[in-house]
Amino acid sequence: MVRRYADSGIDAAAIDRIVDAAVRAPSAGFSQGQRFIVVTEKSLRAALAEAAGEGEYVSRGFSPWISVAPVLIVVCIDKQAYVDRYAERDKAGTGGWDVPYWWVDAGASLMAILYAAVDEGLAAGFLGAHAFEGLHPVLDIPEDIEVVGVVTLGHAAPDQSSARVKRGRLPRDEVVRRERW
Ligand SMILES: Cc1cc2nc3c(=O)[nH]c(=O)nc-3n(C[C@H](O)[C@H](O)[C@H](O)COP(=O)(O)O)c2cc1C
Repeated sequence: MVRRYADSGIDAAAIDRIVDAAVRAPSAGFSQGQRFIVVTEKSLRAALAEAAGEGEYVSRGFSPWISVAPVLIVVCIDKQAYVDRYAERDKAGTGGWDVPYWWVDAGASLMAILYAAVDEGLAAGFLGAHAFEGLHPVLDIPEDIEVVGVVTLGHAAPDQSSARVKRGRLPRDEVVRRERW
């Protein structure tokens, strides 16, 4: 995750390739409930930055993040797509989701965006929806569409860690079991 970007735009074809990767992510039942809003307009990026409280972030000593990233991809989900899909004949009766797959699928799309960004020589960050206040009206998002968060894309500038406490990568053996737990 990179939260600081150079003041330079992104080639439109690269944005399309990144978005295509997001769209190609898997989805439960091939419901395809992931939705994306690509935001490049400066005024909208500024409005999203304000909804994220960027002023307060900057006052804590960080560089502006959301407003400076030349491209934002808002990752959303349409849960109704899953409800409808799992009511179809081949899926009927299997929709008692123990896991809300729309969140899983949004995560798969998010990861695809992050990888595709790296493939384009770009850097990306992610700010969860919890960090925004009143995001729906800024982008005219219907109330029944849930926002997962916002991916920031740009050319990397020297970054500074936002972590208050340095966290190291856990050793593989702590995370991965073999054959049994
Ligand atoms: C679901 C999710 C939500 C995240 N939300 C935020 C966020 O709100 N703000 C932020 O600065 N980073 C956020 N991150 C980024 C993580 O802090 C980051 O991935 C983690 O620190 C590991 O750093 P790395 O991805 O550079 O290895 C989020 C990441 C994920 C996967």
